[in-house]
Amino acid sequence: MPLAKFLLCAVFLTSAGRGHARVLSERVASDITSTCNSISAAMPDPSQVSFPGSSQYTADIAHMYASSSAASACSVEPSSAEDVTAILRILGSTRTPFAVKGGGHATNPGFSSTTGVEIAMSRFKAISINSTAGTVDLGPGLIWDEVYETLGPAGFNVVGGRIPTVGVAGLTLGGGFSFLSNQYGLGVDNVVAFDLVLPNGTATTVTSQDEDLWFGLRVGLNNFGIVTKFTVKLHPLGQIWGGVIGFAPNQIDVVNDALVKYQQKIDLKAALAGSTATGIIMYYDAPTPPDGLFDEFLAIPTNQSDVSTRSFVDMFSLLANGNAPQGFRGYYSGIPVTNYSKAVLDAIDNQTTFWSAKLGALDNTLIFNTAIEPFDSGVFSYGSDSAYPPDRSQAILPTCITMAYSNASLDAVMAQGLREFTDAVQAVAVAEGQNVSQAAPYVNYALFDTPIEIVYGQNLPRLRTIKNAIDPENVMGLAGGWKL
Ligand SMILES: Cc1cc2nc3c(=O)[nH]c(=O)nc-3n(C[C@H](O)[C@H](O)[C@H](O)COP(=O)(O)OP(=O)(O)OC[C@H]3O[C@@H](n4cnc5c(N)ncnc54)[C@H](O)[C@@H]3O)c2cc1C
Ligand SMILES: *[C@@H]1O[C@H](CO)[C@@H](O)[C@H](O)[C@H]1NC(C)=O
Ligand SMILES: *[C@@H]1O[C@H](CO)[C@@H](O)[C@H](O)[C@H]1NC(C)=O
Ligand SMILES: *[C@@H]1O[C@H](CO)[C@@H](O)[C@H](O)[C@H]1NC(C)=O
Ligand SMILES: *[C@@H]1O[C@H](CO)[C@@H](O)[C@H](O)[C@H]1NC(C)=O
Ligand SMILES: *[C@@H]1O[C@H](CO)[C@@H](O)[C@H](O)[C@H]1NC(C)=O
Ligand SMILES: *[C@@H]1O[C@H](CO)[C@@H](O)[C@H](O)[C@H]1NC(C)=O
Ligand SMILES: *[C@@H]1O[C@H](CO)[C@@H](O)[C@H](O)[C@H]1NC(C)=O
Repeated sequence: MPLAKFLLCAVFLTSAGRGHARVLSERVASDITSTCNSISAAMPDPSQVSFPGSSQYTADIAHMYASSSAASACSVEPSSAEDVTAILRILGSTRTPFAVKGGGHATNPGFSSTTGVEIAMSRFKAISINSTAGTVDLGPGLIWDEVYETLGPAGFNVVGGRIPTVGVAGLTLGGGFSFLSNQYGLGVDNVVAFDLVLPNGTATTVTSQDEDLWFGLRVGLNNFGIVTKFTVKLHPLGQIWGGVIGFAPNQIDVVNDALVKYQQKIDLKAALAGSTATGIIMYYDAPTPPDGLFDEFLAIPTNQSDVSTRSFVDMFSLLANGNAPQGFRGYYSGIPVTNYSKAVLDAIDNQTTFWSAKLGALDNTLIFNTAIEPFDSGVFSYGSDSAYPPDRSQAILPTCITMAYSNASLDAVMAQGLREFTDAVQAVAVAEGQNVSQAAPYVNYALFDTPIEIVYGQNLPRLRTIKNAIDPENVMGLAGGWKL
């Protein structure tokens, strides 16, 4: 039976996009082709570089959202840190715009795409368990499916993505909310070392010994170089309980009441995410949840239900339709709140109704959904200071509005609707006393127009100082994203 679209966080030109255009004007297309040829000559195998028309190129530039893709001059698939060193030195010395792509799920245009050189990390697929250390080395070309399928049978789990086909690299370098975050923190809080090629091409390993770079790289995304390996903490895994339910029509008030009650029950092994309008994902990190924890949800009439004691991989594979349909355009937007109160949930409901009608009238393929993601108030307490969240003393819930549609002429209109939706809900939270007027939305959900001063908050001056020391030539500024 087909499951409802949950679209859990499961579109043009951004400030990053404009930056791109400016950089690009320094160089004409024929120069970029010659840069591509130089890179090809520097690779052990020249076929690591590919050009428009080849299937390798098509795969290298592909993203979940069509609007997050761009036609690069060429693509390159490095297979070692040495390859990444050679590539970054050529791109830096020729001032060529580029992009770095892990799983290609960035929902902001230009964050992992470019009209210059696309670096696809897809050959970095190594998974290596060190049971003595209790860690696993993960390549930045992996998607979470591959990680869980390898670790699960060995009895291990890691703090990673909740939806199939999302990349290890971007999710981890942008924070990483997981089914396990109430127990162990963000994905990035579980990293013990990063192998990093610095902007000048020097390969290094970054650990908590490297005070500044450790702080900056933890949710600094692509500002400090290219990560070639993550060493992350392993956690034990047995049978889990969980699955999805789709609510029958017109249940939203009951669902909202259940959600308000659920948030008072603190159980760190539990996780919940989904849309109060359509359906939710429930998770418990043991074969059965305690009595009462999810009862209010389980009592709501459903039109689909698949919840049981099962393996983690089985549960995860159920969630594949959290991805947008192939070829759709779209954006995500994160709404920072501290409580899914009745007022906030009602505002989300009202905004969903309002914008679904208004934008759906322009494009009847529109899929519009808001993922509620309640986490424990201690979710930020597991890691030391990092670029994001700028304030670890208060948990900001990473509410995610997801939008998918077809008509490229509507990109600006759709993004504007998402901005107004976001601001309207945030204003309701502020009005009822939630301390979120200056709060940072979750970096990996934030809409591209979010000011960098909000994204990194009080950490911005320190991040800029670190950036200037590590990357005085601003090589990483040739790639798009949340630029310091
Ligand atoms: C369907 C879906 C489900 C999601 N579910 C979750 C979830 O459960 N939890 C959560 O926290 N987030 C979730 N997200 C958000 C997700 O974390 C971001 O979309 C993230 O950017 C995905 O990483 P990626 O590697 O696939 O993306 P990419 O687009 O490949 O990369 C994202 C950013 O990371 C940079 N980057 C990639 N690789 C490297 C590298 N090796 N070195 C330096 N920089 C690099 C890119 O340049 C880009 O700026 C979800 C998103 C989608 C679309
Ligand atoms: C595994 O971790 C231990 C302890 O940190 C370390 O001594 C050892 O070298 C590691 N093994 C491998 C193969 O990296
Ligand atoms: C279940 O109901 C929801 C509305 O709550 C609707 O969007 C969805 O299409 C229905 N699904 C099925 C399988 O009937
Ligand atoms: C969250 O909102 C609900 C009702 O809307 C309220 O009962 C609860 O006390 C609030 N929680 C916090 C921590 O403020
Ligand atoms: C619902 O949203 C619309 C559009 O933002 C707004 O004009 C209206 O006041 C909202 N209604 C309520 C009850 O919040
Ligand atoms: C796409 O949107 C534009 C702008 O609203 C509209 O003119 C055009 O007809 C739409 N195209 C399709 C195929 O609906
Ligand atoms: C309110 O949030 C801001 C960050 O947006 C933070 O700096 C401040 O400490 C918070 N105040 C309280 C009382 O929690
Ligand atoms: C590269 O940058 C790092 C970090 O700033 C620095 O320590 C190193 O000396 C630089 N290497 C070269 C060859 O310039």
